[in-house]
Amino acid sequence: MNLRLINIKQLGGVHPPDTIALRGKALDHFPFIENAYLTLRDGKIEDFGPMTQCPQDETPTQDLTGRCVLPAFVDSHSHLVYAGTREQEFNLRLKGASYEEIAAAGGGILNSAGRVAATTQNEMQHQSSLRLERLIASGTGTLEIKSGYGLDPENELKMLRTIKALNEVSNATLVPTFLAAHALPAWAKAQGMNDASYTKYMLDECLPTVQNEGLAGFLDGFIERDYFKLDALQHLIDASTNSGLPLKIHVNQFYDIGGIQMAVEAGALSVDHLEVMSPEALRALHGSDTIATLLPSCSYFLGIPYGPARELIENDCVVALATDYNPGSSPGGNMQLVCNMACTQMKMTPAEALNAATINGAAALNLSERKGSIAVGKDADLLITKTIPSLEYLCYDFGTNHIQTTILGGQTQ
Ligand code: NIG
Ligand code: FE
Repeated sequence: MNLRLINIKQLGGVHPPDTIALRGKALDHFPFIENAYLTLRDGKIEDFGPMTQCPQDETPTQDLTGRCVLPAFVDSHSHLVYAGTREQEFNLRLKGASYEEIAAAGGGILNSAGRVAATTQNEMQHQSSLRLERLIASGTGTLEIKSGYGLDPENELKMLRTIKALNEVSNATLVPTFLAAHALPAWAKAQGMNDASYTKYMLDECLPTVQNEGLAGFLDGFIERDYFKLDALQHLIDASTNSGLPLKIHVNQFYDIGGIQMAVEAGALSVDHLEVMSPEALRALHGSDTIATLLPSCSYFLGIPYGPARELIENDCVVALATDYNPGSSPGGNMQLVCNMACTQMKMTPAEALNAATINGAAALNLSERKGSIAVGKDADLLITKTIPSLEYLCYDFGTNHIQTTILGGQTQ
């Protein structure tokens, strides 16, 4: 489809075409063109600029007077594919139980794993597709989705095949990650496995199929004092080296056990969560290419500290924002709300938040060449807002959907 959008109030995210990621002070600039046009052709951005330079020809045209356009959000950390929900645990937490206590009693990730095991791939795809539709309507164009509620080879592969099947029928770009080490299941404990030997077992058992069927682009593990420790991380690092699948690691959500230092040293693509940071962890990330992915809606929902966005930005880190959409710690996936929380709770500026939710999210998936900014030749994944005064307004007026239309691969959703 060819389309020209004219009289765009602000066309945002117009970074130089070779921009890969933004760090430090550069993050605080979300460049935009006032009163702009943009044309798309064959699913790509063909041309854009100020209205004074808008070409006149027969291309079908939409007048966007009063509305803004920006790149679709790139949500680089989610667990969108799961079965059932966990509002009963939400109730328990409100009555005083902690996330970790619920997990220790067999709830949490193990609860979701039971539901995944009892649900067919088709049914799980159906449940997940309803969530995905809502995300697209709220502005998400690219979404990373992790496995990790399977906890045995058969069910992990079932989750990854569900992501693949969903990607085939969706206009959103879904990027699958094999979350090989999320919680130690009872069957593994019964066989005498510990966190490290279970991680190695899962990697050895699943990776050949994962690679044959092209089921994952990244590897992940939940590196925490009470989940998977540094020996397990070493197995993930070795598997990443052998398979060529880059690492995206859950780390420093509750405790600092040195996982960030080790992940950065191993060249991980991203370290995600970072609610609890030590000076050593911050030093390891200083100026590093490993992206610091912050998940404010998880902090909000669990009532745990927020990631230290300001310190990370001052330490010249590449900060990305993502939803962590999952049934336990962030049962919502709205990137507009995540941007608002990043501003109100972590003191990021609206410009920083919008960059962290677009171009830096793309960088956290190695997709900056195709996604996350407005540049000629990039995928036409665009958001048309409702009538709003400015792009910054997206981060300011929370709780309503400011997106009127999501365009993905040049197609209106
Ligand atoms: O990223 N922290 C580990 N995994 C998820 C939560 C999983 C769950 O509670 O179901 C997260 O927060
Ligand atoms: Fe997560």
